[in-house]
Amino acid sequence: MNIDGIPTRTIWPVGSPADGVVEIIDQTRLPHEFVVHRLASLEDAAEAIRVMRVRGAPLIGATAAYGLALAASRDAEDAALRGAADTLIATRPTAVNLQWAVRRMLAKLLPLAAEQRAAAAWDEAAAICAEDVAQNQAIGRHGGDLIQAIANRKTGPVNLLTHCNAGWLATVDWGTALAPVYAAVAAGIPLHVWVDETRPRNQGASLTAWELAKHGVAHTVIADNAGGHLMQHGRVDLCIVGTDRTAANGDVCNKIGTYLKALAAHDNGVPFYVAAPGPSIDFALASGREIPIEERNAREVTHLSGLDGAGRVVEIRLTPEGSPAANPAFDVTPARLVTGIITERGVCAANREGLAGLYPERA
Ligand code: MRU
Repeated sequence: MNIDGIPTRTIWPVGSPADGVVEIIDQTRLPHEFVVHRLASLEDAAEAIRVMRVRGAPLIGATAAYGLALAASRDAEDAALRGAADTLIATRPTAVNLQWAVRRMLAKLLPLAAEQRAAAAWDEAAAICAEDVAQNQAIGRHGGDLIQAIANRKTGPVNLLTHCNAGWLATVDWGTALAPVYAAVAAGIPLHVWVDETRPRNQGASLTAWELAKHGVAHTVIADNAGGHLMQHGRVDLCIVGTDRTAANGDVCNKIGTYLKALAAHDNGVPFYVAAPGPSIDFALASGREIPIEERNAREVTHLSGLDGAGRVVEIRLTPEGSPAANPAFDVTPARLVTGIITERGVCAANREGLAGLYPERA
């Protein structure tokens, strides 16, 4: 996608595989600073995922793939690769793309002779990134058709609500939930996005708002609690969110607060779609109840960072000193609240039959 007119991705290798360097946009510095961060080792890649310099299910998977490539450039023996895989998988528990990418890399590399593995690892990581871009573009086409159908029925812009950041910053390019937005805007459909701020880490306010602004898409940031009110007053035509893991029955795990938006959408007859590329669907889990929910540091709830009057990024405390806080990072939206799942293979019902119909080889 474009940053001030310049096509940019979220992760890219630098030089030849022998150089062993990958660069990322450091998302902990957005929206106030644009910083490119260098990953030169497995440990750098694991740290970037753990502290959320990169985040968003597909980008976590892509970074893990490059993490294994960085590891293979240093030591491509079985034990080293298996150890690297364990290190990467331990970074974050909820997004299944992480395990998917690591397992795919191991399945590709372990059958090869050790001296062939480093080059193959860089190729496979690049292939994972290329597939992510193609999947998201296809999601954009399918979701764009849904937006077009709504535009055909109304006058004025289509108002779409999204939660967290499932835009191009959460993927290698295009995004999942925001790919239909970019496709609709490219097709000339008048569109406006309600951006949930997404406490406690504010991925909506910091990242979605930033990328929509950079790409020139009309949007308004709202407090997380405002969505239900806007839906009651007919000011939301549809919701599209991303997913970190969708179970075989269509239950959808996504950023904390997604469930409340789905409840409000259901109560108000607002279509609630989930954009889910194939690697984020976990056919091994019968229902969303089995999805591990990441518990993050309470400091993300008790503290907030932003620009002060002098333009410096500072952290402030919101809560009384000593008040305990809890920070579950994801929730599960039951399939019955999901209007449809937008995948790269088309839109399906959020149930076992719908998903199995699109992915018969995996179900
Ligand atoms: O904690 P994060 O920022 O990694 O959570 C991201 C989300 O919840 C996204 O909605 C999800 O990964 C889908 S990204 C295309």
